[in-house]
Amino acid sequence: MPRIGILTSGGDCPGLNAVIRSAHIRITREYAGTLVGFRNGWRGVLENDAVEITEDLTRGIAGLGGTILGTSRTNPTEGDSPLERVRGALATQEVDGLIAIGGEGSLSAAHALSGAGINVVGVPKTIDNDLNGTDYSFGFDTAVQIATDAMDRLLTTGASHARCMIAEVMGRNSGWIALHSGIATGAHAVLIPEQPVSLDQIIDWVESARDRGQAPLVVVAEGYPFDDDGPTHPRGNEASGRPRLGGIGERLAQIVEVRTGIETRATTLGHIQRGGTPTAYDRVLAARFGAAAIDSAMDAQWGRMVALRGEEIVTVDLAEAIGRLKGISAERFQRAAVCFG
Ligand code: F6P
Repeated sequence: MPRIGILTSGGDCPGLNAVIRSAHIRITREYAGTLVGFRNGWRGVLENDAVEITEDLTRGIAGLGGTILGTSRTNPTEGDSPLERVRGALATQEVDGLIAIGGEGSLSAAHALSGAGINVVGVPKTIDNDLNGTDYSFGFDTAVQIATDAMDRLLTTGASHARCMIAEVMGRNSGWIALHSGIATGAHAVLIPEQPVSLDQIIDWVESARDRGQAPLVVVAEGYPFDDDGPTHPRGNEASGRPRLGGIGERLAQIVEVRTGIETRATTLGHIQRGGTPTAYDRVLAARFGAAAIDSAMDAQWGRMVALRGEEIVTVDLAEAIGRLKGISAERFQRAAVCFG
């Protein structure tokens, strides 16, 4: 009887539990197999910390945010004899291979392990939607919806006070959340890392909205390279060495207020965008990915990632998913920018 391991790695994301539930249903009902969950991402594999996934564990979790398995940013290719430890855990748990649900960092590790002969199937997970090889990753739709709801609220309070409101959203070096939530809210400017604009252009958009009697709403992605300091944070890098983002909205607000004379407030949406219940779209996409990942494992399609292409679930080489990030083209941005100001 087949046994497959599963883990959730990297930042959490609405829809992770829907993947686990769907993978469990697929392997038990279609293949009479067992799903084994490793706790806390790759750390659970290195430490051989696992639990058999049962119906009791997965009942009613499709709409539950976070991950019942826990997560971490542990890299399974680092530390003392990591490969031996990974092989040891798989042998002890008697699993034939692993389903790794993760973003670019976690799937890069999966790709490296796959190159070393470990059986891995990837599932794309990120609210940032920046993973190459798939049209969408689950979690993105939920983050955009949360950001849109928040900005709808900023619009009414901004209008009451004739203020300029600045909303800073997540996304690291990609502007997908900013662009989609900005379009959905009818923002007067959306600033994304892939297509920076001049400060004069930003001021022009803000003043043009004000001159038409609007309270300007500016959406800025956390990784927007606003000035010579870039998107860096006053607290410096995180312990892992990864740049700490956040704070660009506040810096921009000060400058916009001075340059335009419009009272300006900044709001950072932060981790609220990642928490709570996934949208119906994300639950369905996650469920499709979970089932497809089991099918890929049963078919011994190791070293691949399940992906969405149009309406279809396909598999792509893990190398394609991690080679480069999926950014927003100049053309796509220009089409949106026609509505700014
Ligand atoms: O990659 C997802 C993401 O939410 C980014 O948008 C954000 O920059 C980062 O994770 C935050 O990570 P952490 O939860 O470690 O603060």
